[in-house]
Amino acid sequence: IEGAMKVGPLSGRRVLVTSGPTHEPIDPVRYIANRSSGAQGTAIAEAMVAQGAEVVFVTGPAEAGRPHGVHLVEVETAQEMMQAVQGALPVDAAIFSAAVADWRVASASDSKIKKTKQGLPTLEFAENPDILATVSQMAMGRPKLVVGFAAETDDVIDNATSKRERKGCDWIVANDVSPETGIMGGTENAVTLISDSGAEAWPRMGKRDVARLLAERVAKAL
Ligand code: CTP
Ligand code: CA
Repeated sequence: IEGAMKVGPLSGRRVLVTSGPTHEPIDPVRYIANRSSGAQGTAIAEAMVAQGAEVVFVTGPAEAGRPHGVHLVEVETAQEMMQAVQGALPVDAAIFSAAVADWRVASASDSKIKKTKQGLPTLEFAENPDILATVSQMAMGRPKLVVGFAAETDDVIDNATSKRERKGCDWIVANDVSPETGIMGGTENAVTLISDSGAEAWPRMGKRDVARLLAERVAKAL
């Protein structure tokens, strides 16, 4: 990793990036997941490396390739991601692009659940820790810049603006993931950057370009 370090505006800065979905086990062979490919998170990590940052990349089981030149931490569940994030701190900036499962199965079965004549299984859920909110609200050692994502299908800006306030992060990168946008799982993204100075809509562009612009903004803010 040392050999791959680049000199740039983020030289000497440590940046955490979370990415990908999480998988929440139901039993040893089944899990609950979501459609995040991890492509945007991987692109962000690579853009941070290109700006000279030391990057800790905490990823769930994403189909996207892994970024080069990072400290790679692979996890499966939201609880594991929370632990990995805590282990990565302190950092100068933390970018939470992972699609963390909101719920896990309250008591995953140690053995495969079988079909029975008695009827259908029911799943009980427990809420996962909110990693972004936890880090945003740290009393000591909070990263200077905390950036969340908000993938919404309705009232994108309103929902993302209140999400930013509720969680206490500095910026929210909001996007519309309605099926008709084709963004979820695609190569392009159309985001709005929400900060204390308002909402700034970026034109639709490749996920790598979104990542590059975001890394430049982070470098300016640190
Ligand atoms: N996030 C997180 N930990 C969670 C849930 C979300 O760190 N348990 C982060 C995501 O990585 C993202 C941001 O919080 O940066 C917003 O995620 P989102 O799912 O949009 O927010 P939620 O608070 O879970 O609200 P919703 O009910 O809309 O899913
Ligand atoms: Ca959520």
